[in-house]
Amino acid sequence: MQDHWQRKRAILALLNQGSFVSGEVLAQELGISRAAVNKHIESLADYGVSVYSVKGRGYKLEKPVHLIEQVRLLDGIRQRCFYFDELDSTNAFMLGHAQELKSGDLCIAEYQSAGRGRRGRTWVSPYANHLYFSLFWRFPQGMAQAMGLSLVVGCSLYTVLQQMGVEGLGLKWPNDLYLDGRKLAGILVEMTGQTDSECQLVIGVGINMSMTESQGQRIDQPWSDLSAVPASLDKTALMLNLHRQLYKDLQQFEQSGLLHFLQRWQQADLFAGKPVDLHMGEQVISGVCMGIDEQGAVLLDTAEGRKGFVGGEISLRPQ
Ligand code: BTN
Repeated sequence: MQDHWQRKRAILALLNQGSFVSGEVLAQELGISRAAVNKHIESLADYGVSVYSVKGRGYKLEKPVHLIEQVRLLDGIRQRCFYFDELDSTNAFMLGHAQELKSGDLCIAEYQSAGRGRRGRTWVSPYANHLYFSLFWRFPQGMAQAMGLSLVVGCSLYTVLQQMGVEGLGLKWPNDLYLDGRKLAGILVEMTGQTDSECQLVIGVGINMSMTESQGQRIDQPWSDLSAVPASLDKTALMLNLHRQLYKDLQQFEQSGLLHFLQRWQQADLFAGKPVDLHMGEQVISGVCMGIDEQGAVLLDTAEGRKGFVGGEISLRPQ
């Protein structure tokens, strides 16, 4: 870890206790000058960390931050795990190293300067407020074998967060995890390789843990985070549980496709049995949402009977 990150992490650990901490105390604890403390705090702001500074009282975090404990993380994962304080994008990193990677390898960053969202959007990725990671997977039979993968990933996220005590979760076809009706997490699956022989997939996941007001204002849709969860979640435990569950679910998916996940999806489906409008380009199709099929298509009971829809440009909205 770079020296300046070690210092910044030590400052954040002290500020994370919640109350104001003076520049003097921070300087003493870290064995550096007050000017150096000030520089680190200013630099943290460039990474999206919001710190109040009040004359006579010192510094205070607007929202707590969540940092991975690297040793615990590496101890808990058998596959390769790349952990960074800063990176452009964990997806970009994994795609760039696809040739050397194995299924289950993981990349995590505390900050992404160019976090990618779906449909060319940016994924707001301030330092240590949230969880950003990418998992690598090979599918020997090519793209067709990977169809519906993001639905499996959604099921894995749902299962882990529910087991860790988060209530009010729901999956919105095809890629989003919601909490209390607002988006909590996003999934971006990117691919390299051939369409007809082995393909390599990078599964990127961003989970909002502790959003500040200014970060939230940069997001163009209703969002939620995990800050109201009663027992505040331990980010390292969350990552380890997610990796374990994803590894298990993806192995199952590779062997037997989506069949095993239909029921899990149905239980988590935000719109199950509800009237929805399906937007596909200019077209809007109304119907009652009836879950997914084995190809990962969303099923709608329409006036013309049950129909399945699949494709990247489709979005569902409640009626
Ligand atoms: C979405 O738009 O809903 C998908 C967002 C996916 C964001 C994650 S954060 C980790 C990984 N790296 C990226 O650059 N993007 C994904």
